[in-house]
Amino acid sequence: MGLTRVPGLLFGGDYNPEQWPEEVWDQDVRLMAEAGVNVVTVAVFSWSRLETAPGVFDFGWLDRILDLLHAHGIAVDLATATATPPPWLVRRHPGLPPVDAAGTRLEFGSRQGYCPSSPVFREGTRRLARAMAERYRDHPALVLWHVGNEYGDHTVECFCEESARDFRRWLQARYGTLDGLNAAWGTSCWGQHYTDWTQLAPPRKAPGPVNPAQVLDWRRFSSDALLACFEAEREVLKEVTPDIPVTTNFMSILHHLDYWKWAAAEDVVSDDAYPDPADPRAAVKAALSYDLMRSLKQQPWLLLESAPGAVSWRAVNVPKEPGVMRLHSLQALAHGSDGVMFFQWRQARYGPEKFHSAMLPHGGTDTRQWRETLALGADVRRLAGVAGSGTRAEVALLLDWESWWGLEAPESLPSDRLRLHALLLSWYAPLHARGIAVDLAPPGRDLSGYKVVIAPNLYLCTAEQAADLAAFPGRLVVGPFSGVVDAADQVHAGGPPGPLRELLGLRVEEFWPIPDGLTQDVLAQDVPAEGAPTPGAPGRGAPGLGGRTLTARTWSEWLELDDAHVLARYRGGPLDGRPAVTRRGAVTYLGCLLDDPSPVLDEVLDAAGVTGVTGAKPPAGVEACRRGDHLFLLNHGAAAATVPLPASGTDLLTGRHLHGSVVIAPRDAVVLKL
Ligand code: GAL
Repeated sequence: MGLTRVPGLLFGGDYNPEQWPEEVWDQDVRLMAEAGVNVVTVAVFSWSRLETAPGVFDFGWLDRILDLLHAHGIAVDLATATATPPPWLVRRHPGLPPVDAAGTRLEFGSRQGYCPSSPVFREGTRRLARAMAERYRDHPALVLWHVGNEYGDHTVECFCEESARDFRRWLQARYGTLDGLNAAWGTSCWGQHYTDWTQLAPPRKAPGPVNPAQVLDWRRFSSDALLACFEAEREVLKEVTPDIPVTTNFMSILHHLDYWKWAAAEDVVSDDAYPDPADPRAAVKAALSYDLMRSLKQQPWLLLESAPGAVSWRAVNVPKEPGVMRLHSLQALAHGSDGVMFFQWRQARYGPEKFHSAMLPHGGTDTRQWRETLALGADVRRLAGVAGSGTRAEVALLLDWESWWGLEAPESLPSDRLRLHALLLSWYAPLHARGIAVDLAPPGRDLSGYKVVIAPNLYLCTAEQAADLAAFPGRLVVGPFSGVVDAADQVHAGGPPGPLRELLGLRVEEFWPIPDGLTQDVLAQDVPAEGAPTPGAPGRGAPGLGGRTLTARTWSEWLELDDAHVLARYRGGPLDGRPAVTRRGAVTYLGCLLDDPSPVLDEVLDAAGVTGVTGAKPPAGVEACRRGDHLFLLNHGAAAATVPLPASGTDLLTGRHLHGSVVIAPRDAVVLKL
């Protein structure tokens, strides 16, 4: 069973018929059918056109377009239309728009103009969601509910009084008593002891740094407050249309929302992905976020929005060169998406997105864009058999949003240069280059099926999380500045790595961030043979690291070893001769950030017997992914690449039977059915 009842892969995009005269609709559906579009997302920003006054609904135009789409065999991902409250609602309730940290209430005139805690907003969205669900519950075009739109895009948080009340309720539920809150927030520092709940407020703009424990709880609360908006609508939809799956479109790896929690509340994970065509690392960044999407519910997901060409919201919006739309779309399929969808179907003639690319551009059908849209539709049909298939990964990267929030708290850390996305990428990129499948995992997920688990950073690490890691039977790699604080952002007794101390066999005595622009040499030692008896003793020459000079940047630590081998030491600089990379049993710890952790990673992967999906490292620029019995080979490079094949099979894109090896042109791809 696919994500929806549409067979095969989904192909389509956002469709905004309300921006066009109805004469255009006939041409739209005809061209959609020609391109093989089988689903469109409708009504995302239509609240003001559907509820024109309080309780006054005008569904006529939506009825007509849904009927027309259905008549042409096109299914609908129907938005609940709540992404932008209408002007009449905003004017009647001036407290509805969000307030920023400095106390300014934001004006109407854009989108997402709501305070997430506003009862008026939540009640309004439930009313509209119910009206939509009751009206279209039996409409044959309806296959998926699309709640809101990109929660956390423009409105991440709101600092108004309503939000303050909601935050207090949230804090009361978390801590029960003010004593509990005062202890957790460490309010004895800087004279912040609270004596009444009404004294508590969001971390608004203050004279100096705000209490980081307060900020951490605010991040938790703000993610939960938006999630409550989603859940309020979802509840109505499930009541009226229990069989229609519900999604809301995620924004790849978004700092502000704990997507583990969010994904648990939806039926289908969907993502909006806009890799920058001008970014040479676009492919690897996209791959990382797609793997997160697949991992969120450990099932296929849906690329619900992507750009056919240029976007309109960067400072410089570079189009996609010929072939790149196809390549990027195939990449999402390779990483588990059960469809390829775009923003948007027809290019707008007005509004902030009139220069954003579309499947059908201003120039119409005699354009490169349209020809590529047609060709992609045909490719997607050829790959229908991919739908529903999964990926088996032997390596997992740990990602914990609460720890991320703590790590990137403003103005209270030894260095503000440790950014989680960059840390994840630094490990993910070499795995990706080797063609190794990677899952992401939250702390607490069962890791026993993996051979290697990497925690790029676990700044916030509880005793329970540490115990879970200690129980992991495979090879574990832990990055620096981990095990530092508990769930309340308080430094663990005895200092870092807190509850990880026994597992890592060391203490971090001092943090030693490296100033910008400087580097630190790290000299690798031989890797000790497995089970080497004497901690601290030089290794016995297992292949791998010995003698190489690695480069650390941004971060280093003064380590004191209790019971660990040294895999690399600092050479020169303030930590000259001290351990930089260590190992205890199957656990490797890095006390520094290496420019390229590949040597350490390769040694761990080789010892664990992890190879890429093709059995060997693919040529530079070639991405290799396996989904079920499909092998995707994508050439992101600028030159043709010869890729050895692990088995023979048929390339579904061309129908050729391939064996031995295949030459893939730049921006071309092969999808081998093994
Ligand atoms: C997304 C959004 C769409 C559209 C698109 C343009 O963030 O959900 O509505 O604005 O960006 O790239």
